[in-house]
Amino acid sequence: MNVVRYRSAVAPLRHAPRSRHRAGRGIVETVLAERPDEPMHCLRPHVFAASAERFTKAFPGDVLYAVKCNPEPAVLRALWQGGLRHFDAASLAEVRLVRGMFPDAVIHFMHPVKTRSAIRTAYVQHRVRDFVLDTPDELAKILEETGDARDLGLVVRLALPKGNAVYDLSGKFGASPSDAAALLRTCRRFAARVGLSFHVGSQCLEPEAYERALALAGEVLDMAGVAIDLLDVGGGFPVSYPDEVPPPLDDFIAAIARGVRKLGLPPSCRLWSEPGRALVAPGQSVVVRVIARKNGALYVNDGVYGALSDAGPAVGFRFPVRLILADGSDHAGELRAFEFFGPTCDSADRMKGPFLLPADAQEGDWIEIGQLGAYGTALRTGFNGFDQAFLVEVDDRPLLETPGYLPAAMRAA
Ligand SMILES: Cc1ncc(COP(=O)(O)O)c(C=O)c1O
Repeated sequence: MNVVRYRSAVAPLRHAPRSRHRAGRGIVETVLAERPDEPMHCLRPHVFAASAERFTKAFPGDVLYAVKCNPEPAVLRALWQGGLRHFDAASLAEVRLVRGMFPDAVIHFMHPVKTRSAIRTAYVQHRVRDFVLDTPDELAKILEETGDARDLGLVVRLALPKGNAVYDLSGKFGASPSDAAALLRTCRRFAARVGLSFHVGSQCLEPEAYERALALAGEVLDMAGVAIDLLDVGGGFPVSYPDEVPPPLDDFIAAIARGVRKLGLPPSCRLWSEPGRALVAPGQSVVVRVIARKNGALYVNDGVYGALSDAGPAVGFRFPVRLILADGSDHAGELRAFEFFGPTCDSADRMKGPFLLPADAQEGDWIEIGQLGAYGTALRTGFNGFDQAFLVEVDDRPLLETPGYLPAAMRAA
């Protein structure tokens, strides 16, 4: 389905003053203290840091965080604290952001189609050396704009057939196997490092998808007949949603290790991954307020033009939710399924869910919506003037646990 989005300049998230942050405060206490009338974005820096630490320790190679997923500086800082040092940037703005924050970061430009000025500025001003490409034209642009540099890492993006990932990424980028093989051969003549990359699609629930992609990569390498210096298995690592508990991270790592072993690559070949969602989804919730209840639907103050884009008609994710009452008391009552409407006048601003909440949810209550660290804040727009939102830090646990990520003390209750 095509969903038209009218995006306009968006107000930046305001940070609540540090003085209002209290160590040990969870979301419920923060809601009751702030009584927010605007969407309140709640960051759990300890969860971002723990996810980064877990992933970088488990993955047998370099872990590049896909900045597009959540470029909030507080998130990037927490990931850095967790040991992350490589960043997958896909625009010049992301390159500038990361370089401004971390002079020692290794930044890789992983968008296969870039403007000439972005290539030039990234190379000359921000010490970016690795660029992904999927056509000979893009290779020519990179060589011209870097003055035929001899220190480039050139990574060829391979197209994959449509898989079973919840969010399909096939179709827009990537070279066919035979084109990728030819490109690898050409890149070998110019590059200091040559690599091959792919993306299995976001929220990929199937470890074997990586094995299949690696088998295809093996066919491309056989066709190309040239050595590569790096192999990039992309992003796609999943997190839990209410009706979806993915296999543990270690199953994905094991599938990748099996797939890589079959390729017989030399030990000098580095393995890369580009996770976004898996590193940041659990670290952030958004608290919305119920503005009205009508015909079994809750009208809330954020929606598909805000942080809840992925709950809308295009993607239709169900996010975990919990109701927070004005007096902080718990609901013991029965649950019922609600759909949400966002605050704008567009009838596409609708999130079908279903979201299970206490049956007596009403105007004035708040709802914590979890797993919104990924593709939540990053997709906000200013449409219809509903873009005021602020950000707080909380110290509690995420609403949902993704198997194999967090130490016991941080797991969901
Ligand atoms: C090139 C590239 N790498 C990594 C990612 C991150 O993917 P995910 O959030 O599924 O891990 C994306 C997402 O669109 C991407 O396009």
